[in-house]
Amino acid sequence: ETIYLSDYTAFPWTAKSVDLHFTLDPHATRVRSCIRFEPNPASPNGPESEMFLHGEKLKLIHAKIDGAPVTPTLTNEGLTIAVPSGSFTWEAEVEIDPANNTALEGLYMSGGMYCTQCEAEGFRKITYYPDRPDVMSVFSVTIDGPHPVLLSNGNPVVTSDNHAQWHDPWPKPAYLFALVAGDLIAHSGQFTTRSGRDVTLNLYVRPGDEGKCAFGMQALKDSMKWDEDVYGREYDLDLFNIVAVDDFNMGAMENKGLNIFNSSAVLASQETSTDLNFERIEAIIAHEYFHNWTGNRITCRDWFQLCLKEGLTVFRDSQFTADMRSEPVKRIGDVIDLRGRQFAEDQGPLAHPVRPESFQEINNFYTATIYEKGAEVIRMLKTLVGDQAYREALDLYFERHDGDAATIEDWLQVFEDTTGRDLSQFKRWYSQAGTPRVAVNEAWADGTLTLTFTQTLAPSATTADPQPQVIPLAVGLIGKDGREVASTQVLEMTQASQSFAFEGLTEAPVASILRGFSAPVVLDHPLSDAQRAHLLAHDTDPFNRWEAGRNLAQASLLDMIRTGVKPNAAYLAGLKTVVTDATLDPAYRALMMGLPSHSDLATALHDAGDIPDPEAIHTAVETMRTAQATDLAEHLEELYAAHQVSEAYQPDAAQSGARALANAALSLLSRNDGGALAQQQYASADNMTQQLSALGAAIRAGVGAPMLEQFQQQWRDDRLVMDKWFALQVVQAKPEDAAATAKALTEHADFNWKNPNRFRAVFGSLAMHHAGFHHGSGDGYRLLADWLIKLDPVNPQTTARMCSAFQTWKRYDPARQSLILEQVNQILTKPDLSRDTTEMLTRIAEA
Ligand code: ARG
Ligand code: ZN
Repeated sequence: ETIYLSDYTAFPWTAKSVDLHFTLDPHATRVRSCIRFEPNPASPNGPESEMFLHGEKLKLIHAKIDGAPVTPTLTNEGLTIAVPSGSFTWEAEVEIDPANNTALEGLYMSGGMYCTQCEAEGFRKITYYPDRPDVMSVFSVTIDGPHPVLLSNGNPVVTSDNHAQWHDPWPKPAYLFALVAGDLIAHSGQFTTRSGRDVTLNLYVRPGDEGKCAFGMQALKDSMKWDEDVYGREYDLDLFNIVAVDDFNMGAMENKGLNIFNSSAVLASQETSTDLNFERIEAIIAHEYFHNWTGNRITCRDWFQLCLKEGLTVFRDSQFTADMRSEPVKRIGDVIDLRGRQFAEDQGPLAHPVRPESFQEINNFYTATIYEKGAEVIRMLKTLVGDQAYREALDLYFERHDGDAATIEDWLQVFEDTTGRDLSQFKRWYSQAGTPRVAVNEAWADGTLTLTFTQTLAPSATTADPQPQVIPLAVGLIGKDGREVASTQVLEMTQASQSFAFEGLTEAPVASILRGFSAPVVLDHPLSDAQRAHLLAHDTDPFNRWEAGRNLAQASLLDMIRTGVKPNAAYLAGLKTVVTDATLDPAYRALMMGLPSHSDLATALHDAGDIPDPEAIHTAVETMRTAQATDLAEHLEELYAAHQVSEAYQPDAAQSGARALANAALSLLSRNDGGALAQQQYASADNMTQQLSALGAAIRAGVGAPMLEQFQQQWRDDRLVMDKWFALQVVQAKPEDAAATAKALTEHADFNWKNPNRFRAVFGSLAMHHAGFHHGSGDGYRLLADWLIKLDPVNPQTTARMCSAFQTWKRYDPARQSLILEQVNQILTKPDLSRDTTEMLTRIAEA
């Protein structure tokens, strides 16, 4: 059942061409396939006499080899058939049932339309095929069905109502296949590539959603231009289609020429989407578009190499967002996200390397480690070799591997070849699980500051004997007068313990270490409150300036949790100075007002050897918020007023930043004014950012009930906005009410639990409500487990992803541990539990 990287062997045949013919029917779609196979010269064992093809939940109607009927041996996983020794043509006809495909993998139906999701292993639910990314072929597709819009990959050959033919000239693995059919409306655009190719762009949506397309279309054009300018990558077909679907397990999918998106990741309007929604949509459109080169033109040899395309594409989309908006704001947001999701993963039983060496169900490895840490590893590589060498290495990567199914070895080789560096030690970032800790020791004598760094990595299930990694440490020095006395330099740490000296200083400076978060590590840098406050006031590196404030806040919160002391005055004073500094970007100031999440605090407590108490964490954070509100009281109204946007709504960085700061002020103000200003803002809001933040503040102030009712009336017909309505009530619930609130919402007429967005709105929010989910009653655990048991047979992939809510069980007290384990085991004992969920819970429980 477990699959190992070390077992890789090439498929014995290559697929020269693939012809597919679909006759659509909700319960009895027929798929005819005709595939030309040739012996693969790269196959280690030479020609074989039997061929295995993947296939799941298919009804085989007939099969032929070179035109003669054959009778394959069928199992639940596929078929085996005797084949001729040379080239041959395989034909098959199968029947599938898209309307009953609730797993949303393969060909399924959503809101009356047909769509597909084939990554990672969904194509085998469409027809018999060598469903592995290293088998690349040229696909031709014919679709018959009673729908005006019939789409597949590549360029159209014939399009008419009820019949279409498509041809994709670019060889691709089956996971990039896509088909869409339905009564859809196109929002169209046009882009001319640098070398003069005219590309038609379409965003296909269901009738009623036409008004939510303009932003996504512009984001697509911006992405196409950016990839030409920054990476020299042009689009390679005459058509680029995006389709929005309501039922989708993930964010979106980069199928060649036919991206399919969760509607929440593409549809946007001022009235229905928040500024953060707009930013996320822009990033996901860019991400999927960038996959055309990093993923499609160069794909992965096997699924162990997933980070080859995902880490790189996340890195590319983060560069894009930094260019489109604010670089420091994007960086801080990414680090908050990395710490919240990836560090937590690394700290628990689901820890795995960026390139895992074994898995049971690949869908369980679309993780923060592979995506976000995978991107961090590339960021480090770029920091180490420099911008110029990075670009040269990427040019070589595209030139050398275009059309390949490549590996991490191939990726690192282009860096070695262009820079002459030996990257064998750097490669440990791909093979060792866990977050390294870097401890800093400072010595000052005779004008020299010596920094000694010590790196440690805790052993874990997949990394029993960790070895030192290459860690780029960006360091600058800030003098007593607040001026920078040494600008940023990158220290390259390669040993377990290593010292670096800064000479010729007139006085002891404050070291600003890990600037820009130059490596995904936990930094233990023992600074006094005064030193942190100095960095908060003066650091020239925007990330570390924010980090200094975050460290002060976190240290204060940890003290409050442990001993019940009052909030740290140095933190509050420093915050006030920064937040009222009108020379600073409002978006940045809004980030400064943030606090570590409950879960981050639990992680920090666990790291320090303490048992986190969710209730104590909640109390400390509430106390700190109230202290912020009191301490900043005289400035909040002015901050609020000064950042009201009077121009027409734009979801750009400037306006979003102003709203973010005004709404951060509103959130604190509502602790002082009983929610009066929030009520006022709610009544006058003309966009979702203003409406939703006012609603949240009002609920916290205890005056939200009538607005929740009004909101529901106003938005009952908008699925994406109603997801917000469901989520917000759980997010804003008091800890003791969170599970009951979620439970009540599951009884609401609009709780469609088979829709992943709606399920996540309720249960994703519950799992993220730290004090609510981990409430001592155990109600949160029980409710989630009951619903996961219900969802598993319907949608294993979404069920398994949500199981990660239980991954931190070991850090809590014995009572909570046994409450969680009881639920984990209850799910595990269910007969016919999916492979996805079984693998997740087994890994979690065996820790
Ligand atoms: N490749 C897609 C993306 O990164 C994600 C698809 C994941 N699908 C899955 N079934 N695990 O945008
Ligand atoms: Zn991706």
